[in-house]
Amino acid sequence: MASTPGVSAVPATLRYQQGALFLLDQRRLPGRCVEVRCSSATEVATAIRDMVVRGAPAIGAAAAYGVAIAAREVARRGGSTAELVAGTAAAAAELRDARPTASNLALAVDRMCAVAGAAVLDGAGRDTIADGLEHAADSLARFEVEASLRMGRLAADLLPGMRSLLVHCNAGALATVGRGTALAAVYELFELGRLTMTYVGETRPRLQGARLTAFELAQAGIPHTLIVDSLAATLMRRGLVDAVLVGADRVAANGDVANKVGTYALAVACHHHRVPLIVVAPTTTVDPTCPDGASIPIEVRDAAEIVMCGGEAAAPASTPVLNEAFDITPAHLVHALVTERGVVSPLGAESIAALLTPA
Ligand code: MRU
Repeated sequence: MASTPGVSAVPATLRYQQGALFLLDQRRLPGRCVEVRCSSATEVATAIRDMVVRGAPAIGAAAAYGVAIAAREVARRGGSTAELVAGTAAAAAELRDARPTASNLALAVDRMCAVAGAAVLDGAGRDTIADGLEHAADSLARFEVEASLRMGRLAADLLPGMRSLLVHCNAGALATVGRGTALAAVYELFELGRLTMTYVGETRPRLQGARLTAFELAQAGIPHTLIVDSLAATLMRRGLVDAVLVGADRVAANGDVANKVGTYALAVACHHHRVPLIVVAPTTTVDPTCPDGASIPIEVRDAAEIVMCGGEAAAPASTPVLNEAFDITPAHLVHALVTERGVVSPLGAESIAALLTPA
């Protein structure tokens, strides 16, 4: 099985080969490393919705390949340019709707549509457009790999005294196509010999911390300890956590951050215990069209994720459930946002606008 660029110990999240996208099935980890083959945009959208692939940058890259697959399929069967344009537009709409919170998904799909639109305006033929969309998806994936490396270095340099970290959900290689966001800093600190411990919150209800982050860190031989989410504040009170590092699914124009549910509770605990909360995310996660956290759509997932655990009932089946998958952390609780373009601190409308302004 192919490995992740920059983290050879971890299998690759995705790979594209001859019109098909192979996704590491993250629902089977850590027990089994198997891939799911997607040969249509609908199959990619289903894989995103069912969380075969998850994590903001990874679903953005997967969706880009989903659009490329739709174009290639029309080109293969000899369809017209008009059919190719209609096919990619339909694929884009379906992929865009697969999950609502991560801005990377919509951004990737929109970029692919723009590439297709520009090629049509240039008078490109069917096969040239399909080739161009595959190259565009490849370069989006390459961007995320390079961004991961840069963010890891910048985040590791941010707080020289940072030796014992706490992380939430999975913001590592499995959530991206490179080293990850928050975990890219963990890999970097480990390689520099500056990391003593990584506390990993299990991340109820889907256990991305336990199943994915602990798997990644174990594969890479990095010191880590798994905790239930609700132990985090106690570890901070004992002085065991130098910083909390998380990823993000969307950062609003005013700096509010949407990330895996539980991040806000960590931010409040960090504030109380004077522990810096650092958000590590590429600029593809920053959405200037969302004015603030209240305007970020929060995904509500199936009740079964909470009332069932390991195939057993964890609550009466009829229990009313509210399964919001993400929460909003207000900008003022974030010590710094680390992106591939640099570090933003403090977070606010002005600093976010400056980050997005081309140099
Ligand atoms: O529901 P998931 O597993 O897709 O949620 C993932 C997260 O919340 C990550 O922290 C976020 O996408 C950043 S990953 C680099």
